Amino acid sequence: MSERLTADDVVFELRDVCVKLPAGPTGRDILRQVDAKVHAGEIIGIIGPSGTGKTTLLRVLSGLQLPTTGSSLLGGQPVSGPSRDAVTVFQDYNTALLPWRTVAKNVALPLEGRVGKAERKERVHKALEIVGLADRGGEYPWRLSGGMQQRVQIARALVVEPKVLLMDEPFGALDAITKGALHDQLMDVQAQTGQTIIFITHDVDEAVYLADRVLVIHGTPGSIVHEVTTKLPRPRDQIATRDLPRFHEVRHELAEVLRHGKSA
Ligand SMILES: Nc1ncnc2c1ncn2[C@@H]1O[C@H](COP(=O)(O)OP(=O)(O)OP(=O)(O)O)[C@@H](O)[C@H]1O
Ligand SMILES: [Mg+2]
Repeated sequence: MSERLTADDVVFELRDVCVKLPAGPTGRDILRQVDAKVHAGEIIGIIGPSGTGKTTLLRVLSGLQLPTTGSSLLGGQPVSGPSRDAVTVFQDYNTALLPWRTVAKNVALPLEGRVGKAERKERVHKALEIVGLADRGGEYPWRLSGGMQQRVQIARALVVEPKVLLMDEPFGALDAITKGALHDQLMDVQAQTGQTIIFITHDVDEAVYLADRVLVIHGTPGSIVHEVTTKLPRPRDQIATRDLPRFHEVRHELAEVLRHGKSA
């Protein structure tokens, strides 16, 4: 991928992606005819009922799952496996951290062998500060609460400063206040770095508040049944943005699609 990306650059392109996974004698169709383009610097929210293939779609984007048919391109190149340009925050935070490493050493992991010790220390501290855990670096992850462990995982992704951040329900385990603070921190980082972010959520309000564009996945097999561009001004504000008529309009539109499972 080129170093300097502009909004005209397509980061991801999915062309007629279908995924079939092993189940019984014939396998099960999980995703069907998924077409999507994601541009540099976009924040994309993915929402849809449980079991419709959202995590599977993120695995396709990360290169952990190859499409059964169709293609997935990152920076114009076919994805053949995980790339350093795209880092994933997994849905299951319990198994994502190494229990024998301290919080700081878990966060430092992706930098080992790549950057010097002093820079590593500085970047780890900055990442932990963003997620509000700067004072817990010396502890082991299993001594932290579930929400804290999830924040450590987010810090470990941020420390890489990746071009693309893929996040699977990253805020699910957090209380409303921590969640709001982390939303705003993440959007600040994104505004400074121009990162592309694709996140999954079950929370309609969260999708609207964070995203430039929300994709709704629905059905069995799952496909993108609806897409809405939020068109809300940035920077966003937890109170003012949520009071805007447009916020309510988008929220309503998404709630309707989620209820009926098809584009309104
Ligand atoms: N490794 C696998 N092998 C076979 N089937 C799988 C595998 N992983 C997921 N599936 C199936 O794919 C379907 C979609 O799963 P996926 O995890 O993508 O859903 P999801 O939309 O992320 O759901 P949730 O909102 O509950 O996280 C499910 O029916 C699941 O059983
Ligand atoms: Mg999932």
